[in-house]
Amino acid sequence: MPHPTAAALARVDEDAVRALPKAEVHVHLEGAFSLLDLLRLAKQNGVALPGPALTIFDVSTHDGFARPEVTTGGVAHGAGAAGLSGFLRFLDWQCSLVRTRQQAADVAYAFAARQTGSGVRYSDVIVNPTHWSLWRGRELELLDAFAGGFDEAEQDGLCRVGIAYSLLRGQSAAEAEDAVAALASARPRRVVALSIDGDEKTVGRTGEKFHDAFRTAAAAGLHRTVHAGESSGPEGVWDAIEMLGAERIDHGVRAIEDPALIRRLVDEGISLGVCPRSNVSLGIYPDWRSHPLPLLLDAGVAVTLNTDDPAPLGTALERDWAVAAEQFGFDLHDMAGFARRSIDASFADDDLKRDLRAELEETIGR
Ligand code: ADE
Ligand code: ZN
Repeated sequence: MPHPTAAALARVDEDAVRALPKAEVHVHLEGAFSLLDLLRLAKQNGVALPGPALTIFDVSTHDGFARPEVTTGGVAHGAGAAGLSGFLRFLDWQCSLVRTRQQAADVAYAFAARQTGSGVRYSDVIVNPTHWSLWRGRELELLDAFAGGFDEAEQDGLCRVGIAYSLLRGQSAAEAEDAVAALASARPRRVVALSIDGDEKTVGRTGEKFHDAFRTAAAAGLHRTVHAGESSGPEGVWDAIEMLGAERIDHGVRAIEDPALIRRLVDEGISLGVCPRSNVSLGIYPDWRSHPLPLLLDAGVAVTLNTDDPAPLGTALERDWAVAAEQFGFDLHDMAGFARRSIDASFADDDLKRDLRAELEETIGR
């Protein structure tokens, strides 16, 4: 990528953001299908679209396509009745279109290309095999196909990717332990972490249920990251830290409601993978101005800025960084801080982190 000019760096617009070497640490492979990907996959599989193409990403109306709604469309503002759970069912529908190894590898390759276009040099990507229902019982094969796509992407000079294997919050303790035992013995390529995602509100507290699975993962050398403090309060973040040994929290924004928890996050350097657009689109906060991102930063929490599910939310990382700068008054110095923290929080290996930090400092002219 060519070096940005001083003028480009002075403005916090999308070009300036793209020019910052950075990582993204909270983004789901299930949330990276472009409209074109979906149209192609549906055609290849002879599956009818659930409504006019213009409405496919309208999370305010769909309910995971159990009853597709026909609307005048527009992308992703306001969660409507469907909310996070309806959105997750929509991800199931998308992933059900991926049926062959080649299609899986193509999704992975396209993800790396999308990240590269945003100036992302390394990405942890969350993969939750329960969304990819046709691969039930063949999860390791699915991971291998994704790894093949990421390998090809890296050979082509695109962003490097590590996989965070995600349990679904509603899975049983036995399912979670079986999944982790399989990871610990097969050691699938590119899997660097264990994760939990899904809707906290519908399932309730899960720290105890997943405790053993996370202990096994840690002993097998896997990192740990947990969705918490999104659709439920600070208690989920406490559970993630105390019962699951989480090194990172995905979202975690509702930690702001508990000063003791904030102190703990700061003292232990546990970072939050914050995604303001996702929170607004899925109804956690009414608008950007109400989002606690600046409060978390002021409190000294290691906050990173991410997209969560960029394609169905109709966005890209550089767009969300530029919007955050505009909404919260961040300057380029602040954005370089986000880039620095993204590298620090990532599960990239130490050599890559060192190189990215050096490149970032060079880019911002230190
Ligand atoms: N999976 C994909 N996006 C998610 C979110 N915002 N919360 C929980 N699980 C998810
Ligand atoms: Zn997420």
